[in-house]
Amino acid sequence: MTNIRLLLVDDEDDFRRTIAKRLTKRGICPAEAGNGEECLAILEKKPVDVVVLDVRMPGMSGVEVLHHIKKKHPKTEVILLTGHATTQDGVEGIKSGAFDYLAKPVELEHLLGKIKQAHEKSRRGEEKLREAEFRARMEQQMIATKRLASLGTLAVGVAHEINNPLAIMKESAGWLKLLLKKEELAEMPRKQDFDMALNKIEESIERTRRITHQLLGFVRKSDSALAKVDLRGLVDEIVQSVNREAANKNIEIVQKVDHSIDTIWSDPYQLRQVLINLLTNAIQATGSGGKITIILEAIGEEVFLTVHDTGKGIPKEDLEKIFEPFFSTKSPGEGTGLGLFVTRSIIEKLDGKIEVESELGRGTSFCVKLPKQHQIKEGERVS
Ligand SMILES: Nc1ncnc2c1ncn2[C@@H]1O[C@H](COP(=O)(O)OP(=O)(O)O)[C@@H](O)[C@H]1O
Ligand SMILES: [Mg+2]
Repeated sequence: MTNIRLLLVDDEDDFRRTIAKRLTKRGICPAEAGNGEECLAILEKKPVDVVVLDVRMPGMSGVEVLHHIKKKHPKTEVILLTGHATTQDGVEGIKSGAFDYLAKPVELEHLLGKIKQAHEKSRRGEEKLREAEFRARMEQQMIATKRLASLGTLAVGVAHEINNPLAIMKESAGWLKLLLKKEELAEMPRKQDFDMALNKIEESIERTRRITHQLLGFVRKSDSALAKVDLRGLVDEIVQSVNREAANKNIEIVQKVDHSIDTIWSDPYQLRQVLINLLTNAIQATGSGGKITIILEAIGEEVFLTVHDTGKGIPKEDLEKIFEPFFSTKSPGEGTGLGLFVTRSIIEKLDGKIEVESELGRGTSFCVKLPKQHQIKEGERVS
């Protein structure tokens, strides 16, 4: 049996059945239809590679049926069967997209040959279509990857370039503030307005500095340095550094640490940034009296680091977006929308995974899963 899906359409029952029987003997088992409407109904239900179609039928003519097939099932090839005196129909049919036509009475070998050719064409068409689809998908992916890569390169460049003038602006604003405090300017008109404007400038400088800082952190990932990382020590150190911020909001930070965890091979600089980002988010999302729990546990060949907070939670529709660059629900003074993007980029680079679970109004958990033994890749330094 071949795998050609064939449909035989002819109103002369005897003729159709005979041909079907003989084709079956030769390994092609066709479906049958007695008129155009039946033919179209079958095509709606299942895909067919080749239709052998009688031109002269009561009801819909073969050429009409052909038009329908070509419009709705462009991958299906059609062979028309014409009477001797009506080969003109066949010529018309080819113009309308038929694969070929044969004059009745048909010779079986001839018909068989044509069916195989038509099937080959339909198969190639399908392959081409699949190939085109595949290529389009790959191109899309490549565009996205390239965009991200060039975004990274651009980001470092811009961040570096901005850092120097930013430092000068910060210095100058600070100096102006000092000047305003001098006695000689004590009677200066509208001094308060100057002060307010300077504060705004300083706030904006601080915001810009945070953005460049995050971006530089993100890009440094291509140059990660692997070392033995004492995760427990790292968690402790970072909790210390954010403790004051948390205490100001009356938030308690609790550590639950599996003491069997010794050291892992990873990038301490980048892990520090991950932890700071997750903890900062947790503190910002949590109200007074809330609690943040950091859990460190060893599971199989991985280490799980969970930052859980009792904060406001993340709406379902935002869960998809929080890892996108520049997605933030915070005021411009508070968020850059780069924290989680950078965090995920770092973790993926370190062969890890990050997962989030959140319940609105109850809290959020970010779980980072890291391999204990990071595989060293080309371009990574071990220090
Ligand atoms: N622990 C959390 N609780 C609630 N929302 C969070 C938490 N962490 C992140 N988010 C949401 O994800 C967004 C993106 O986070 P992030 O990338 O760190 O940017 P940013 O903190 O600068 O806004 C935040 O604006 C916030 O809406
Ligand atoms: Mg953040």
